[in-house]
Amino acid sequence: MDVLSVASEAYPLIKTGGLADVTGALPAALAAHDVTVRTLLPGYPAVMGALEDARALREFGDYFGGPATLLAGRAGGLDVIVLDAPHLYARAGNPYLGPDRKDWPDNWRRFAALSYAAYEIGGGAAGEFQPQILHCHDWQAGLVPAYVRFNSPTPAKTILTVHNIAFQGLFGFEIFNELRLDYRAAQESAVEYYGLINYLKAGLQTADQLTTVSPTYALEIKTQAYGMGLEGLLSARADALVGITNGIDDREWDPQTDRALHTTYNHNSIETRQANRRALELRFNIDDTPGPLFSVVSRLTTQKGLDMLVGLVDDLVAAGGKLIVLGSGDAEIENGFAGAVMRHPGKVGFNRGYDEPLSHLIQGGADVMVVPSRFEPCGLTQLYGLRYGCVPLVSRVGGLADTVIDANEAAIEAGVATGIVFAPAEPYALRDALLRAVQLHARPKVWRKMQRRGMKSDVSWDASAEKYAKLYRKLLGVREDDQQDD
Ligand code: ADP
Ligand code: GLC
Repeated sequence: MDVLSVASEAYPLIKTGGLADVTGALPAALAAHDVTVRTLLPGYPAVMGALEDARALREFGDYFGGPATLLAGRAGGLDVIVLDAPHLYARAGNPYLGPDRKDWPDNWRRFAALSYAAYEIGGGAAGEFQPQILHCHDWQAGLVPAYVRFNSPTPAKTILTVHNIAFQGLFGFEIFNELRLDYRAAQESAVEYYGLINYLKAGLQTADQLTTVSPTYALEIKTQAYGMGLEGLLSARADALVGITNGIDDREWDPQTDRALHTTYNHNSIETRQANRRALELRFNIDDTPGPLFSVVSRLTTQKGLDMLVGLVDDLVAAGGKLIVLGSGDAEIENGFAGAVMRHPGKVGFNRGYDEPLSHLIQGGADVMVVPSRFEPCGLTQLYGLRYGCVPLVSRVGGLADTVIDANEAAIEAGVATGIVFAPAEPYALRDALLRAVQLHARPKVWRKMQRRGMKSDVSWDASAEKYAKLYRKLLGVREDDQQDD
């Protein structure tokens, strides 16, 4: 079966968050289930620079305002089709933001063009690669199912995966005539949303199948508290929506082989993590006292609940904890952590930036990975934490709730605990959880058992890739009992 994955980012080519990890890893995991994936990406400089064995599939004189070429090739270990359209994508830096840190004003055009290219590939534009499924990720690919539904029909079926419903792609209605979308789509049951155009809504309305990245988030987004205005539509389409939990790329994320680590290890040699911890302490100017080393690797936003952590650093340090933070984002949160470093020299460290190898060293050396999100569709850093023996401390929302088992006394007794889970996502509950982690860390046997259990839990793509493969086959009408993986 041939599938076109349509995404605005894919690791290792271009990454701003977990979406790239997923789109970068899923194709290889699906190959084990007889699914051949090609990934359609915008021709950003990083993608063009990595493209090998490129051949032109189609050339266009005017593609959403300039010339463009569809190229097939290999890049970053992926089979890709690249929309090379310099007027849209030949811009350095972040894929969505200009140098002023604001959205590029033509993002509507950049991602309409990407979506239209996917639609054309569904209709045969890529020659012998004729996908039966167009798997669309997030709002940037949200128009694909609308083109398929309202323009000339293509045989391909469509799946839309929601990685984060907070980002919807909202634009003024005046762009409609430039979208190359049939006029029948200009209605509330398609792209229109309170007088605007909403790309994610367009996809949610028209895709054959909807998925999101954890079962709990699939439930949450049907409620007012988490649906960001789309809960009614999602409730109406509940039969088409499933949650499939993300896995991790265990070739990239394996503490036994990870070259970013000072010392590699496995669940039988957890004590050697100590060397990684020491390397981290030196890197962040932290002293080598024995208290637990808490860590954050994240976008610094209110989604991630890190404003709450800023307010609790003093309590954490008073209780004997130390903290290192890698990330950037909201100025207030950045300033909050920078201030905490000044107040607590030797106890708190902050690296305001993006550093992929350092993120690995943190997983391989810190004691606790703190993810206190207010909402979290899936979350990957807690999964890396499990894999690396960096015990996750998470709020009980979305994929965090689905992947970490709280170390309450019953779970410790039963030997099933893998982390610390708290609710609600409020400062007082986060504070309790941080203090509970300090106390648990002081029980070395319990702590070691929890680390080992986390390291042995299955966070790979195996089970979830199988679920996607089954979903694809169901969409194509392959009967369940004919599916070879059963
Ligand atoms: P989200 O996609 O909402 O940001 P996820 O937990 O799904 O959250 O994925 C975040 C990804 O980005 C992870 O791979 C994480 O390690 C990585 N990441 C986030 N911030 C940084 C950073 N400052 N440096 C390196 N990697 C980071
Ligand atoms: C989004 C979500 C995150 C999820 C990632 C990959 O960025 O915020 O929770 O893990 O997508 O699906």
